[in-house]
Amino acid sequence: MTLSRRKVLSLVGGGAIVAAAIPAAAFLNTRTPQAAVAPWQLAGSYADPRKNALSFALLAPNPHNLQPWKVELVGEDTVLLWQDTDKRLPETDPFDRQIIIGLGCFLEQMVLAAGGAGYSADVSLWPDGEEGPVARAVFAQGGAADPLAAHMLARRSCKEPFEARALAADAVAALSEYAGIITDARQVVQLKSLTWDAWVTEMETPRTLMESVDLMRFGKAEINASPDGIDLGGPFLETLMLAGVVSRKVQADPDSRGFQEGVKIYNEMLFATPAYAVLTSSDNSREAQIGAGRAWLRLNLKCTALGLSLHPVSQCLQEYPEMSAHYDRAHKLLAAPGETVQMLGRVGYGPGVAPSPRWPLEAKLLNG
Ligand SMILES: Cc1cc2nc3c(=O)[nH]c(=O)nc-3n(C[C@H](O)[C@H](O)[C@H](O)COP(=O)(O)O)c2cc1C
Repeated sequence: MTLSRRKVLSLVGGGAIVAAAIPAAAFLNTRTPQAAVAPWQLAGSYADPRKNALSFALLAPNPHNLQPWKVELVGEDTVLLWQDTDKRLPETDPFDRQIIIGLGCFLEQMVLAAGGAGYSADVSLWPDGEEGPVARAVFAQGGAADPLAAHMLARRSCKEPFEARALAADAVAALSEYAGIITDARQVVQLKSLTWDAWVTEMETPRTLMESVDLMRFGKAEINASPDGIDLGGPFLETLMLAGVVSRKVQADPDSRGFQEGVKIYNEMLFATPAYAVLTSSDNSREAQIGAGRAWLRLNLKCTALGLSLHPVSQCLQEYPEMSAHYDRAHKLLAAPGETVQMLGRVGYGPGVAPSPRWPLEAKLLNG
């Protein structure tokens, strides 16, 4: 995650502190966690078509960037995808609904990457029942390339304010084939306050706040050592760390000045939103969750193709008691009775952002 200079200056209270906090200008140029983002350069460089497709799949969006996947290569043509049950979010995602959505994103990106390289990947879900792998994919020559595959390396979740301009009408029409797109001014206002209220609830609930704080990686060394979770890196955030404005202690203390400034930044971001995308399902089965993940990945790639940014805002969809009023409101606003809202995201014209860290393929392969 990177912060704009404007935000950083507001946080440290002025340029003098920034200057004092930086021992040498060179420091700023050395803060990119190169090892943690190396998998973005390695994607597509493997000879085995399965590893090649997996090297893109692991760049898929997933909750809190936990990367809850493990993969096993079987024989010459088969991949088994397992859920890594050590990577869970028990406080904010107690039923693993979002984790499974992330695995759906992974599968879709694997299939798209296989197609781009001339292979098909025939996916069966839970082929051995719910205790077994999440999916088995059998690769064969002859897959067709999907134009969406061209955008896999440029795709991001953009956690930034979006420009104050409406989505172009043709973009709304194109995206409506991928998700429900909400541009109606009244509904957009309702969703801004819902997403804000839900985010505040997560922050005010100590155990859900701490779930995030425990996953924060502060600065280049921590990010390279654990390329997952919530990465707080880049020259400006590291400047704030040197100035003592950002630290694990500050992020865990809602009364601290640094925390309060972060709240303002998040408020500004959530309200700088011209439109939303929503995915619902008629049931909340595991298959529907995988389907939502596959659809979300395609939506994210289509946004990238259209020059638009997408940012999931999931707090109001989370299933724990303190969130239930916001959950009910989200379902009232966004779903028909009996349906489940699987994903909600901000859509708009956002700035370019850096790729997020990933564990390399070798760390996720159970064999091979
Ligand atoms: C099911 C799901 C829920 C997510 N919820 C949020 C969210 O509430 N807030 C947020 O900032 N990002 C959310 N994300 C985005 C992830 O944080 C992001 O995918 C991850 O950090 C990797 O970054 P990338 O998508 O830019 O590669 C979600 C992603 C998924 C798949």
